[in-house]
Amino acid sequence: STSRFYDFKVQTTRITKLCNTKNMVTINGIFPGPVIHAQEDDRIVVKVTNKTPYNTTIHWHGVRQRRSCWFDGPSYITQCPIQAGQTFTYDFTLVNQKGTFFWHAHVSWLRATVYGAFVVYPKTGVPYPFTYPHEEHIIILGEYWKQDVVQIERTTAASGGSPPVADAYTINGNPGPNYNCSNNDVYKIDVVPGKTYLLRLISAGLNSENFFAIANHKLTIVEADAEYTKPFTTDRVMLGPGQAINVLVTADQAIGKYSMAMGPYSSAKGAAFQDTLAIAHFKYLGAVTNSVSLPAQLPSVSDNLVVKTIMDGLRSLNPVNVPTEIDTNFFITIGLNVQKCHSKTPNQNCQGINHGVMAASMNNISFIMPKISLLEAYYKKINGSFTEDFPGVPLKFYDFVNGPNNIPNDTQSLNGTRVKILEYGSRVQLILQDTGTVTTENHPIHLHGFSFYVVGYGTGNYNPQAARFNLVDPPYMNTIGVPVGGWTAIRFVADNPGVWFMHCHLDIHQSWGLGTAFIVKNGKGEVETLPPPPADLPRC
Ligand code: C2O
Repeated sequence: STSRFYDFKVQTTRITKLCNTKNMVTINGIFPGPVIHAQEDDRIVVKVTNKTPYNTTIHWHGVRQRRSCWFDGPSYITQCPIQAGQTFTYDFTLVNQKGTFFWHAHVSWLRATVYGAFVVYPKTGVPYPFTYPHEEHIIILGEYWKQDVVQIERTTAASGGSPPVADAYTINGNPGPNYNCSNNDVYKIDVVPGKTYLLRLISAGLNSENFFAIANHKLTIVEADAEYTKPFTTDRVMLGPGQAINVLVTADQAIGKYSMAMGPYSSAKGAAFQDTLAIAHFKYLGAVTNSVSLPAQLPSVSDNLVVKTIMDGLRSLNPVNVPTEIDTNFFITIGLNVQKCHSKTPNQNCQGINHGVMAASMNNISFIMPKISLLEAYYKKINGSFTEDFPGVPLKFYDFVNGPNNIPNDTQSLNGTRVKILEYGSRVQLILQDTGTVTTENHPIHLHGFSFYVVGYGTGNYNPQAARFNLVDPPYMNTIGVPVGGWTAIRFVADNPGVWFMHCHLDIHQSWGLGTAFIVKNGKGEVETLPPPPADLPRC
């Protein structure tokens, strides 16, 4: 294995898009940020220097950080933010991991602009388990705001209000020709007729889940969240923020120019969304350069059936040790809350986070970020930052999907920094249940520090008698869309000591408190124990 060194300068950059120029936080002045290339088992060292006035951190999304929890990156969970002028060096090893990852800022909403791809190839001499592609391309789906996104969070989400939808969707930072002033902001892949391409699709969206399709072309999924899958051919895919899907595409159509399109999947009733499609070109050698692309067909915005069909198609190629026995089983409801207010002024003196009216919660607890990192508080035994009483079952039982009878009394969430302790090596099952206290919707739930087997999912309220589990070839993911008005069962072995955040990867829901954290205790041997903090760990 090799050590790979990167220098990330977090800086303010002037960017013009959508007829609008703004100062935007980037890494090294480029957007999307630099690509990290590595091989399985490599050591990655990234020196992050913050030259902006904003607090920052970088999270290596999907990297399991085996015994390197200090370098995971979520602010106030495993580290304090890197403040203006400070430097922090992330240093970790990709133990048994390869595939498509991404990195992103993990503080406030900075990840709207601070993100990039992270590609890990198999070890030298180890082939892909599919026909070798002629070329590989990274396709990052994102959302773009003309305003300062950190400011949007402060003025709306963090105070319990609803933020505006993005001004544009983007493919590798480009909105494409459907948007004003964007005729030249179009990403393009040149393809040779007859050849096959590997597209590494990454969803870096902030608040939106998205469909992706290429006009007239089939997509064969071969990897999901950096784990190989059995090949599954489909006309389109859906990616929730935090998900990465690799597809093979063969240029088997008439010579021409075809759209690669990204549009919204919005499962919540009445939710606003950006409905203009981001377009990139899939252009055959020999096609007329100035021709318009053949438009791609995306599903309708709330096509839950398409999402289920894609989910059904995800099967591990080589599942390793799917837990068949369970030591610890938690039932966790996921949803939004409208909080009681004691004042007529909107978002003042309400019971939500920062006194806002909107909240989101797991088991009706809205997660409040502590003032120092949970990991530091836990490791140094500093009292007062968190409590260990995150409930393993909902505080109240009611008809989760259809909502309780007694609104609002049964739907108020409590605020707290409540975590759950896991014994080292315990086999954990989480039943994640969507709720309809405000509206049901698909939530992309992300777990740090692990991949998990998605052993079951379904619609309605989870019913253990009726639920059927796949323990043979379930997909091994790090972010899973809990179906709208439904549930998902995930399993993992808690064999990685540290503090691990679990949250909705829609940032608006995270701002409203939709998350919790697990503390995985040390095992017995030295190799089962969390190492001490690095010397340059930022202070709060
Ligand atoms: Cu990609 Cu906690 O995040």
